[in-house]
Amino acid sequence: MPTPRAQSARTAAVQPSLIRALHDRRRPGSLNLGLGQPSLPVPDPIIDEGLRRLRAGSMGYTANAGLPELRELIAAHHALPGRSGADSAIVTCGAQEAICALFAGLLDPGDEIIVPDPGFPSYEAVARLLGARPVRVARDAADGFRLDAEAVAAAITPRTRAVVVNSPANPTGMVDEEAQLRRLAALAEERDLDIVSDEIYADLHYRPGRVPSAARHTDRAYLVSGLSKNCAMTGFRLGYVIGPPQRMTGVLRAHHMAATCAPVLSQHMAQFVFENPRWLTAQLPIYVERRERALAALRQHVAAPVLEPDGAFYIFADLSAHSDDSLQFALDLLEKTDVITAPGRAFGEAARGWLRLTFADEPAVFAEAAARIGAYLREGR
Ligand SMILES: Cc1ncc(COP(=O)(O)O)c(C=O)c1O
Repeated sequence: MPTPRAQSARTAAVQPSLIRALHDRRRPGSLNLGLGQPSLPVPDPIIDEGLRRLRAGSMGYTANAGLPELRELIAAHHALPGRSGADSAIVTCGAQEAICALFAGLLDPGDEIIVPDPGFPSYEAVARLLGARPVRVARDAADGFRLDAEAVAAAITPRTRAVVVNSPANPTGMVDEEAQLRRLAALAEERDLDIVSDEIYADLHYRPGRVPSAARHTDRAYLVSGLSKNCAMTGFRLGYVIGPPQRMTGVLRAHHMAATCAPVLSQHMAQFVFENPRWLTAQLPIYVERRERALAALRQHVAAPVLEPDGAFYIFADLSAHSDDSLQFALDLLEKTDVITAPGRAFGEAARGWLRLTFADEPAVFAEAAARIGAYLREGR
């Protein structure tokens, strides 16, 4: 009898997450600088609204695309030219499902999609799951791994359908320059491409002024975001896609088939957030402080170059002087010091010798972890 196969060729093509692999080796008491999981509670008024809604009892399915009032509010909040009104927004189960549904709605097997290297690993994995071809464009460490629109232009082929940008970026925390995003927007129009602009960290921004966005420069851009990071609502699975209303058919169909609709309770809580948008940035001051304290701890303990983040809650550290294989480095570090980190290799080849350290957890955890990393670099233990 042949052994029944465990999975399809499509799922076998997806690399298991190295971030999860490290996290799964944690022991009780391990210090987490690995997973991008906010330690903060969801703000009380959002929880209160959830409890009120739960007691009111309306917990059925919603429309596949989400509550029309919520979709209207989301589109109005982002105010993207050519993408207004409820029909421009689809509410998904987190930004992750937004990426899946959007890619499924845009890409055919064999199509190419340009992804940043280093970049959030799901872009490449989801493309592979769909039988599409992710094309990594290496970013330049000397420029903080920021977008270089000319490097993207050089990677376009007749099969290219879309380009992904993510700013503020995971894993680097860097924000792309307005001029580069404008150039990318022009490129999308000239070369008949779509842009996927993942802006899940846009509310966690440490530079003055508004975060530059490719989505404001062209209606060829779809914006992906959600409430996981800004409102510490990772477990509520509330994300969304905004795009041109006449070009949302595929996204909606894919979202419908994968999820039917986003959880209704989370949608009601999100409606409260967008009716009271100060909650989108209510936790920013806490991250401003955590960022300062994390950078200070690294300056004190770790003699390695780091990128000072413009946004998100990650610090990207260059440990290539110690090892060019960040996966092995992160595994040894966890073994010897009980500190979980995310190896640069999880995000592509361009950052092989880098390590992502998150300050989404308590400052005391980060400080202790930085001291242990410093001792490990000096003494190997
Ligand atoms: C860049 C980026 N996009 C999307 C996501 C997925 O977010 P969600 O938890 O809303 O699915 C993450 C989560 O880490 C992320 O870092």
